[in-house]
Amino acid sequence: MSLKIGIVGATGMVGAEFLDTLERRRFPVGELLVFSSGKTKKSVVFRGRRLDAPAVSIPALCSCDLVFFAGADEISKKLAPQLVQKGVWVIDDSSAFRLDSRVPLVIPEANAKALAREKRLIAGPNCTMTGLAVAAAALQKEGGIKEVRISSYQSVSGAGRDALAEFFGQAQDDACRLKFSASGRAPIFSEKPARFLPGKISGNVIPQVGIFDPAGNSSEEIKVAAELRKVLNAPFLRVSVTAVRVPVVRTHCLAAWIVFRRPFSVQKAARLLKKAPGIKFYKGPSYPTPLSCAGKYPVSVGRLRQGLGKSELCLWVVSDNLLKGAALNSVQIAEELLRRGWLKA
Ligand SMILES: NC(=O)c1ccc[n+]([C@@H]2O[C@H](COP(=O)([O-])OP(=O)(O)OC[C@H]3O[C@@H](n4cnc5c(N)ncnc54)[C@H](OP(=O)(O)O)[C@@H]3O)[C@@H](O)[C@H]2O)c1
Repeated sequence: MSLKIGIVGATGMVGAEFLDTLERRRFPVGELLVFSSGKTKKSVVFRGRRLDAPAVSIPALCSCDLVFFAGADEISKKLAPQLVQKGVWVIDDSSAFRLDSRVPLVIPEANAKALAREKRLIAGPNCTMTGLAVAAAALQKEGGIKEVRISSYQSVSGAGRDALAEFFGQAQDDACRLKFSASGRAPIFSEKPARFLPGKISGNVIPQVGIFDPAGNSSEEIKVAAELRKVLNAPFLRVSVTAVRVPVVRTHCLAAWIVFRRPFSVQKAARLLKKAPGIKFYKGPSYPTPLSCAGKYPVSVGRLRQGLGKSELCLWVVSDNLLKGAALNSVQIAEELLRRGWLKA
C-alpha cells in the first residue's frame, strides 16, 4: 500500500523532521507533495530525490490521502477544514485547533483512544507538554493525578527558524568575547533587543514564552496547562506552569512535580515508567539532557524522587521538540490510522 502524502511547511524545521521521520520509519509514501510559502524558490530532498516546494495549491492538497501541516496557525485555519471536507486526513502541528472540542488532540502513547474514524482533522500537541503528557499518562492509571507544577526549560528551535538563526548570530558575536580580562574578571555581556524573542537569548535565560495575560501568565503557560488537561482527559486538573526559554538549540526540558490522589512510591513509578511505551527511563544518578536527547525519538525521564509528601513525585522530562513535540508525534498518529485501517490508499 502506498499513499499520497502532502506536507505544508516542508521547508521549515518541523518540515525537515517530517521528511527524515517518514523516510526512517518507512512510512508507505507512494507520492509526496511538499509546499512552502512560495516567497522564494525552494526544494527539499526525500529518499535521495529533490522535490520542488512551491506555494500551497488547494487542488494538489485535495488529491492527497493525508496532509501534515507544519506551517503556521493561519495557514492551518484556512486550509485544513477545506481538505477535511474533501475526505483528506489532516494532522496539524500548529496550535490552530488544539483546544477545539471537536478536534482530537492526540499523543498516541497517552490518548490514542481520542482518535475517531469520522474526525479527519487531528491536532498534534504543544511541544512543551508532550513529553510530560507521555510520562504523566503512564502514571495516571495507577495514581489519579490531582495537581501538576511545571518549570520548563525550552530550546530556541521551539520558537521557529528565525529565532534560531538570531540565536546563532548572537552566539557567534559572543564567542569572540569569551575570554577573561587581563585582571581575570569574567566577561559581562549586556542585554540587547532581539527581533524574534523578548530579548537576547545567547548567554541568557528568559522567563517569557509568548505574551502575558492580565494575570501575568504567558500564552505558552496557558496552552501547556489547557492541553495537558485535554490530553489526560482531566478537565479539573490543577496545573501551574512557569515557561522559560534557555539558550539551547533543540530539545525541551521540564522539571515537574506531580501530586496524586493517593500515596505513590518512587519504586512503583519507576516500574511503570520503565515499561511505558515511548519512554526511556534513567534510574539512579544518571539523567537525560538536551545534548543526550536531541534527535532521539523517546521521551526521556530521570531524577525521579519523592516530593513533599507521599503523594507527590518529582521528575525531569526531556524530549526533542521537533520530533516527539511535532513531526514524530504526527507520523505516529498516521501510523495508528494505518493500523486501524482508517487511512487507506
Ligand atoms: N518548532 C517547534 O519546536 C514546533 C513544535 C511543535 C509545533 N510547531 C509548529 O509547527 C509549525 C512550523 O514550525 P517550524 O518551527 O518548523 O517553523 P519554521 O521553521 O519557521 O518553518 C515555517 C514553515 O512554514 C512555511 N510557511 C510560512 N508561511 C507560509 C504560508 N503563507 N503558506 C505556506 N507555508 C508557509 C515556511 O515556508 P518558507 O520556507 O517558504 O518560509 C516553512 O516551511 C508552526 O505552526 C509551529 O507552531 C513547531
